[in-house]
Amino acid sequence: MTNVEVRALRNAMGNFATGITVVTAINENGEPQGMTANSFSSVSLEPPLISWCVGKDSRLFELFGKTNHFAVHILHSGQQAVSQLFAGPEENKFDQLSWCPGINGVPLLDDCASVFQCEMEHRYPGGDHTILVGRVLDFTSMPMPPLIFHGGQYQELK
Ligand SMILES: Cc1cc2nc3c(=O)[nH]c(=O)nc-3n(C[C@H](O)[C@H](O)[C@H](O)COP(=O)(O)O)c2cc1C
Repeated sequence: MTNVEVRALRNAMGNFATGITVVTAINENGEPQGMTANSFSSVSLEPPLISWCVGKDSRLFELFGKTNHFAVHILHSGQQAVSQLFAGPEENKFDQLSWCPGINGVPLLDDCASVFQCEMEHRYPGGDHTILVGRVLDFTSMPMPPLIFHGGQYQELK
């Protein structure tokens, strides 16, 4: 596809409104890592499975290719800055918000709408992404208005 076609495809896909998540894990030095992802989807209730996709260009691609545990945080409407922080290049992201270690030391961010602590169940090739399926080991949830991503922009439910 040409660059113009790729942009048109991305715009077409952007018509699908999503929530926003931050996915976290620890690296081999035990340091907290995380990235913003809107490719999250619920997959199965029994067993409890969720999926998301990591891009091959992401700095965390290798980490999520290896790690056996991760956590998915669904952001609420007041957390646009958290989404931007975890989509950016800044180092020491975890110095800027409050969090605590969960199962296997995976960092859990405070004050999110839902948090799913997961064990890696499957990895599938997905073109320029890898599709990751996690089994939910534990979760928390609060009824909060979600942060929405649509048409390449942050939105709130109206
Ligand atoms: C709203 C939004 C959704 C994103 N969703 C994904 C995603 O599902 N998968 C992904 O690999 N990257 C996604 N990204 C990009 C990553 O957040 C970004 O690449 C990541 O923070 C790593 O930074 P790096 O590319 O500099 O390594 C998204 C970014 C934004 C702003």
